[in-house]
Amino acid sequence: MFLYLNDILISIFLMSVNKKEIFFEKLRFSVVNSEFTKLIISNKRDKLSDLNKTDIVPVIIKKVYKLSFIYHYKTKDITKNFEPDESEIQILKLLTEDFLNAELFTTNEIIRLYLSKQKSSAKINISEPVFKPVVSLNHDRNKQKRVILKNNIWLRELDVTNSEDVLKKDMHNKYRQINKYLEVIENMIINKISLQSLKIADAGSGKGYLTFALYDYLKNSLKKDVKITGIEFRQELVDMCNQISEKAGFRDLNFVRGTIIDADLTGVDIFIALHACDTATDEAIYKGIKANASYIAVAPCCQKQIRKQMNVTNAMASLTKYGILKERQAVILTDGLRALILEAYGYNTKVFEFISTEHTPKNIMIVAEKSNKKNNSEKILKNINDIKQMFGIEFHYLEKLLNEKKRTK
Ligand SMILES: C[S@@+](CC[C@H](N)C(=O)[O-])C[C@H]1O[C@@H](n2cnc3c(N)ncnc32)[C@H](O)[C@@H]1O
Repeated sequence: MFLYLNDILISIFLMSVNKKEIFFEKLRFSVVNSEFTKLIISNKRDKLSDLNKTDIVPVIIKKVYKLSFIYHYKTKDITKNFEPDESEIQILKLLTEDFLNAELFTTNEIIRLYLSKQKSSAKINISEPVFKPVVSLNHDRNKQKRVILKNNIWLRELDVTNSEDVLKKDMHNKYRQINKYLEVIENMIINKISLQSLKIADAGSGKGYLTFALYDYLKNSLKKDVKITGIEFRQELVDMCNQISEKAGFRDLNFVRGTIIDADLTGVDIFIALHACDTATDEAIYKGIKANASYIAVAPCCQKQIRKQMNVTNAMASLTKYGILKERQAVILTDGLRALILEAYGYNTKVFEFISTEHTPKNIMIVAEKSNKKNNSEKILKNINDIKQMFGIEFHYLEKLLNEKKRTK
């Protein structure tokens, strides 16, 4: 009875004061009392806007409490950190100019604010969280090393560390690359995927550095229910990786001998192919699309197929006559067209620098997320054709694979 009366009183109170103000009161209170866990700002005012959503989480940077804003644009994410006062101004700005909804998660409540586009009215809904979240102040989390050196069997077996678990002299870049890779996969895929158990395939797994790292991090650090298969055509690497996996006690990580094009990807949620040479990356994207994978992540290398085909006869020819510029243009065209083809096939795609060129020249990564919304395929395919024409390209190998209907696996 008391609860019922209390609910009525709260409703009357909520009806009578400005809902937006209540929301900001709750926000301020949660920040001051360290109860703030997350704020998601969504539902674009302008559906054509490039900014899709903004996530805000608390962080401690150099001992200062800040809110970290992750602005999710169509093709990139941008992170900016603000102190609480400035954060409030930024949130107000986002809700006034860009978005209509805000979902505030605190340790005790979930507060949802719905603004109306036409009217100045707003609705607010307050509920209890199903799980009590723990406030994690990611102390420069993205700079933290996700791969732990101590007692790490696979790092030792792969000669990254010595018997004292110290990084070998020439392995610092490799270690940096592995950690950066985990940061990217965690932020761009794992934090977004809602599946309870994950089936991942990693094609062209090679010596398995990145495959072991991903498995160890997801299974043992993030406690995910995950199964990973490494696919590699060199039998000696498959045998070596299976031995290391067994030694490390990684029950759900195994390696199989096979080619990307013939890989069985039934039920695979995330399909990864890193540094698979030239058209092997196209085969990987093709297989991921055919398998309807929720995520496809590739880090292409050696973009030869397009370079050989480029036959520029327009004004651009005066630029591509320089070998190095032609080479770079071929990289842009190969990977840009891959990203567009993925979009034409219903994926939202991001292209970004995976690790700075000082560590490796093979530094572009494409991450594609299966979208529920229909992309305008016709328009994208026309765009692809215009680009091909501009550079005298007859075909892109990925397109060719997708157009050959007979391959179904
Ligand atoms: C450059 S290594 C990359 C290894 C690992 N993915 C990484 O990024 O550290 C490429 C590996 O892919 C394998 N590979 C290349 N083409 C392949 C294909 N079509 N099918 C299966 N494996 C392939 C090669 O044998 C090699 O071990």
